[in-house]
Amino acid sequence: MKVLGIESSCDETGVAIIDEKGKLLAERLYSQIELHAQYGGVVPELASRDHIRKITPLIKETLKAADLTLNQLDAIAYTAGPGLVGALFVGASVGQSMAWSLGIPSIPVHHMEAHLLVPFIDQASGLQFPFLCLLVSGGHTMLVQANGLGDHQVLGQSRDDAVGEAFDKVAKQLGLGYPGGPAIEKLAKQSISKRDDFPRPMIDHPSLDFSFSGLKTHTLLEYKKAKQLSEEKADIAHAFQQAVTDTLYAKCQQAIEQTGLDTLVVAGGVSANRGLREKFNQLDDVNVIFPSMKFCTDNGVMIAYTGLQYALAEKFVGTNEIKVYPRWSLQQ
Ligand code: KG4
Ligand code: ZN
Repeated sequence: MKVLGIESSCDETGVAIIDEKGKLLAERLYSQIELHAQYGGVVPELASRDHIRKITPLIKETLKAADLTLNQLDAIAYTAGPGLVGALFVGASVGQSMAWSLGIPSIPVHHMEAHLLVPFIDQASGLQFPFLCLLVSGGHTMLVQANGLGDHQVLGQSRDDAVGEAFDKVAKQLGLGYPGGPAIEKLAKQSISKRDDFPRPMIDHPSLDFSFSGLKTHTLLEYKKAKQLSEEKADIAHAFQQAVTDTLYAKCQQAIEQTGLDTLVVAGGVSANRGLREKFNQLDDVNVIFPSMKFCTDNGVMIAYTGLQYALAEKFVGTNEIKVYPRWSLQQ
């Protein structure tokens, strides 16, 4: 079985082909970062147009790299949501049309489930259901109990900004580029004082919810003060990153105690943060699993892999409808 996966929910066009054993045959990824960087964030209309430009050449290149023709594909998986509506429509239109014309199944994939499942690709990780998952991306922050394919219980989530969004907004305030996460990480490393006095929002709250909007404002106010005192910007970046990491860590500890689960997957774009990875590796008696670096941020491989799991389990509803779900709960 050969499954082609298409990702186009935000600012990355990703295409990959995977076989029935989960072996990656070929992948192509095009990032629109340069396009959006000049605006300090993703411009949805530009994102859709760029996906249109890139998706067909990427599919052709991926097929060529896998030494396959269209007729050798057995299913097409594509991100159906959540994400930017116009961007999603590009992948969904292409995916559905290809599947229809080839007479093979199309599999709509939930983007966050794909982030959550991608560590399974590394079979050496020994990952098995059930496990706890901290999903940290540009659009979502969630603590999830993953029980099986399509069976996930959201234990807590952000009440306002997602973690990646907070990184991006703080980076913008600090005059760093887009995307903010890697820029903050790089700057934080240069901090000599290792400043660490920012609040940890909601860590004493009994729920497993998060809130990062107040921390973002606090960071801005501290930055303004630091500027007047000619203090280092790197110290602000460090204090912010530490506060985010500690908050996520504390909530995961709470979730581990609450669920009794001893495996924690940390996935989504922010899981690429090295400071966060170091902190989470300190969790005692817990098997902490991260996707490999290249699978943390958006890619076509995670969509192909998730599509394959649904194809193998025959757990998807075939449809010819081109439909996307910009807001789609992981529990639905
Ligand atoms: O999963 P992802 O690629 O896209 C969404 O599904 O949203 O995540 C993108 C987010 C961005 O907000 C970006 O700033 C953040 O992940 N990110 C990071 C790092 N690399 C990417 N945040 C912190 N540290 C990083 N190294
Ligand atoms: Zn993502």
